[in-house]
Formats: sequence, C-alpha cells, structure tokens
Amino acid sequence: MKIVFATNNAHKLKEVSAVLGEGYELVTLREVGITEDIPETGATLDENASLKARYVYERTGLDCFADDTGLEVEALGGAPGVHSARYATDGHDFAANNRKLLNELEGVENRAARFRTVIALIEGGKELRVEGIVEGTIATAESGAEGFGYDPLFIPNGYERTFAEMSADEKNAISHRGRAVAELVKLLKE
Ligand code: IMP
Repeated sequence: MKIVFATNNAHKLKEVSAVLGEGYELVTLREVGITEDIPETGATLDENASLKARYVYERTGLDCFADDTGLEVEALGGAPGVHSARYATDGHDFAANNRKLLNELEGVENRAARFRTVIALIEGGKELRVEGIVEGTIATAESGAEGFGYDPLFIPNGYERTFAEMSADEKNAISHRGRAVAELVKLLKE
C-alpha cells in the first residue's frame, strides 16, 4: 500500500518505515512535489498534525498521514510542547534546544517529562487520529549520539540510558512515535 508521510526528515522516515514493516510504501513530500514548508500554525499537536495531513490531501488527493510531536516537561508546565522544534531559536537547532532545556531545569528536582506524538491519517478522504506517549525524565547532561532532537537528554522510565544511547530498534519499540505508528498500523489494517 502506497501512502504519503508528510515529512522530509530522514530519521523519522527510517523509524516509521521500520515500525510499519513490509507491505507499505512510504512516499515523502518531496516525492509528491511538495517542497515548501507546510504551515504549522496550530495551537496543539492535534491541530498541527491535522493541518499537515489536510494540506497534503488537498494537493495530492492521496492517502496520507502527518505527525506532530512535542516534549512536555512537567516542571515547565508542559513546555516546550507544541513549540519543541523552535524552542531556543527559529530553526531546528537541536543543540541550542537541549542547552536551553538544561538551563531551564538547572536546580529543578522534578525532571518528569513525556514525548507525545499525534498522527492524523487521511484514508479515502476520512480523517482519523491516534497518539503515542512515552514517559521519562530529563537528564542533567547530554549522553549518546544516536537519534535526534532531545534524545540525548530523555531517559525513558524503566531505563538508565537516554534515547540517544539506544539503537533505533530499541528506541522504536518504546518510543512515542513507535507507539503512535503501532496505533496507525491498527487503523490501516482495520
Ligand atoms: P516533529 O513534530 O516530529 O517535527 O517534532 C518537533 C520537535 O520535537 C523536533 O524538532 C524535535 O526537537 C523534537 N522531537 C520529535 N521527535 C523526537 C524524538 O523522537 N526524539 C527527540 N526529539 C524529538
């Protein structure tokens, strides 16, 4: 089954393809000729996932899905949340975001956080949404070189290593995106 994944992020594409498995051919935005940034003007992860999926559907008429993820830190009232990509700067500067997060949490004891992914699927013109959550804590320093984004700072509950210290398979099995994609697969198979 051919389905457009509204992303050009190679890391995400690899993660999601691995969870979806054979039988699904993921098509990227570039491959359907969408090269501009899709506006992410929603106030919530749900809104943004939905906006992105509809944008692709309106232009291509193809079955598609879009995800939006946020890191929600308890002591920061859920920030950076929907602003996770542009937390420290206007761009996707992962190193600056991680530095800012460490600064904001300096001396803070409650380091509880969770990653939440929302996926909006449009199949046969009908829209559905699923989500995936992983709970964890924010480390006091970065560790590991795998993954991307906040991975070097996020320790999932039940582990003593950050996501950036795990193999892609290990992360996928427990991650927010892995769980959301597992829910997506259930929907696609229904
Ligand atoms: P997006 O909605 O998936 O683009 O995610 C927004 C931001 O959240 C990204 O720019 C990253 O900073 C962060 N993020 C999303 N997924 C992950 C992940 O799996 N690990 C670490 N950071 C992530």
